[in-house]
Amino acid sequence: MVTGKNNILETVGNTPLIRLQRLSEELNTQVWAKLEAANPGHSAKDRIAHYIIAKAEEEGVLSPGGTIIESTSGNTGRSLAMVAALKGYHCVLFTTTKISKEKKAVLEAYGAEVIMCPKDAKPDDPESYYSRARMLHEETCNSIYVNQYYNEANVEAHYHGTGPEIWQQTGGEITHYVCCVGTGGTISGTAKYLKEQKNSLRVLGVDAVGSVLTKFARTGQLDETEIKPYKLEGVGKNIIPSTVLFEYIDEFIQVQDKPSLLQALKLSREEAIMTGPSGGAALEGVFQYREHFGPQDKVVVLLPDHGISYLSKLYNEKWMKKNGFL
Ligand SMILES: Cc1ncc(COP(=O)(O)O)c(C=O)c1O
Repeated sequence: MVTGKNNILETVGNTPLIRLQRLSEELNTQVWAKLEAANPGHSAKDRIAHYIIAKAEEEGVLSPGGTIIESTSGNTGRSLAMVAALKGYHCVLFTTTKISKEKKAVLEAYGAEVIMCPKDAKPDDPESYYSRARMLHEETCNSIYVNQYYNEANVEAHYHGTGPEIWQQTGGEITHYVCCVGTGGTISGTAKYLKEQKNSLRVLGVDAVGSVLTKFARTGQLDETEIKPYKLEGVGKNIIPSTVLFEYIDEFIQVQDKPSLLQALKLSREEAIMTGPSGGAALEGVFQYREHFGPQDKVVVLLPDHGISYLSKLYNEKWMKKNGFL
């Protein structure tokens, strides 16, 4: 009997949990990495793309010949392009002129249409990539605007997938869950599921210095003076997305660019796992919290994507030196 998969989407999820030997020794605790790079599109965003499109189909919002629209240049765009290619949908991704050639080429390889918008346009400017995406959706019947920062299905995908997987893979022994926060979908959905199983679990959200999320979590104040440029991709935000469920996140830890990027480099050399800048940030979060871990603790850290997408930045010595990270 052939036991292969029927299509690539059947390989989304069920990613491995891998013990980080050297980090566990160094911190005198037990650290396990949830390796989201093992998804077919190399990131956790495959989960939400697969879930959101399947849900839209079930609800009759999207039917054959339809169009998937999103404003993104990142992993979500790639995952949506992959799902659209398999299912035969038209996929239109609005992005800014900041997008790298490689990233654009990947989206186009899956057959997506990539539309460039000015990078400095404010979100409410009609030329911004948010406004253009929303307008196209309004003009196009049988279309879905994914809008991941305000789409509760982003959270649900992790509640039904990542959460139960981690619970099973740790045999319920997980004591700490560490995950970076971008849209917040990953941490919120996973933490909600895990806390329903075990309320004593500590959930640590990793945010970037230069993002508004940590101060908002601590004070309830959206303080725009917190906003500063930083290089970490997929970590932190200058808005408060509705997909961050603050009630399931016990603490926020803010991390800087340099130590986070160096954590990612160290991981590739010591554990032979290549992760992106946000994975490095999550590891830096674990590192900053090390005084609170005991030898019996089981710490799960989620690594959102693969390092291969960052060969011209994080894994490029010249770029690292130019930015003062090496
Ligand atoms: C590379 C990367 N890491 C981390 C994240 C954060 O995940 P989430 O949006 O679920 O908070 C994202 C997405 O925004 C991402 O693209």
